[in-house]
Amino acid sequence: MRTLLGIAALMVSSPPTAGFHYPVSSARGNTRQRTFSAQSVASSYSTVSFSRMVLGMATWSNGQAIREYQDFLATGKSELDKEDDRPSVIVRSSNPASITPLTDAIFALGNGDDVVVTPNEALPVGKYPIYITVPPYELREFIQNLSDEWKARAEDFVFFSGTKFCGVVEPILRDFGMCRDTMSQVVVGFTLPPPGSGLGGVARMPEDMACNIGTDAYGEEKWAGETQSCGKWNGAVASRLDRNGIRCKSTFYREWRRAMWERALYDAVWNVVGAVREDETDHLQVATYFEMEASDMMWELVNGLRGGLAVTLIYGFEDRLFSFAEMRGKGEPCELRDEMFDHILNVFPGKSRMLWEYCNYAKDKKGLLQRSNVPPVPSELSELPSPTRQGNMRADGVI
Ligand SMILES: *[C@@H]1O[C@H](CO)[C@@H](O)[C@H](O)[C@H]1NC(C)=O
Repeated sequence: MRTLLGIAALMVSSPPTAGFHYPVSSARGNTRQRTFSAQSVASSYSTVSFSRMVLGMATWSNGQAIREYQDFLATGKSELDKEDDRPSVIVRSSNPASITPLTDAIFALGNGDDVVVTPNEALPVGKYPIYITVPPYELREFIQNLSDEWKARAEDFVFFSGTKFCGVVEPILRDFGMCRDTMSQVVVGFTLPPPGSGLGGVARMPEDMACNIGTDAYGEEKWAGETQSCGKWNGAVASRLDRNGIRCKSTFYREWRRAMWERALYDAVWNVVGAVREDETDHLQVATYFEMEASDMMWELVNGLRGGLAVTLIYGFEDRLFSFAEMRGKGEPCELRDEMFDHILNVFPGKSRMLWEYCNYAKDKKGLLQRSNVPPVPSELSELPSPTRQGNMRADGVI
């Protein structure tokens, strides 16, 4: 059901035209098995054969796309074929101070045969995903700086969102016409351990953060906080994670986007509501003691998303986010970092009055966000509501 709705939705979305053009895959319009060899990134890996659904998703909005969609339905498959994981390129920041744990995590989840490069270094020959792990605060410049060689490979880029490290990158990608159905994107639902967290000074292996939160009315398992991927390389991402015991849901862009904004809501609300407290607060405590505030702020931002970006979150988001905080939020500190202000907090359309009241409070009373341009609010928040265990106050009735 989900898939059909997703496909139908894709047909009405038209790809942005700004930015540069992408090479469109040469063979399309029908489904067939192709085998070819890809000159590999690593010498131990020379020939890859795989089947691929050749579906020119870059052109979903025109007549050709509709024919392709009909062909696709005629195959009787409910999902697109998946690209497998393979030796890949991981792009890290060239500034050692801005290398984030995402770079290590993606490398650690691979088979040790990925190539880690800095922007605009020569790319290996072959067909592989290019994982972009530069932090969001360098992403705009990274894209502006792209050499022609790299621009020609833009359809192989994989971008990340979600968590304190990845935040929201949609506004940046949109400015370059890179928010499109074929673009590979991942909402991160696994841990990003810092260097030194594991044995021998290396980072620990990333672990799944997804949690099973029971079953729905149809007996289907419900999950919160799971990794989700979309776009050309979504299968490669999913197989890389799956091999490491990390759930990854592959979805179409439109649904992925709703999941991404759900995660964005969590990253903003939980960190702000907790960071303004007198005592150090973790995500579990926000869910337990500051539930009303978190809920009110969420709904404010949700309304802004609906009005400003036409994003309607997936039913049950409030239950999922609270459950996620309750199951995974213990010991996860509520933090506000200046570098991430424009990528976690300043990303929601609409007035966001409550969010900005809290951010101003954090700035004036807590000495946080000193380098951030927090929008002024009509009236300052002089006092925060006191912690209360509200119980059963959520609209969904979950205690
Ligand atoms: C963009 O290019 C400039 C000039 O070469 C360089 O100094 C800067 O580090 C680059 N930025 C990124 C994010 O790669």
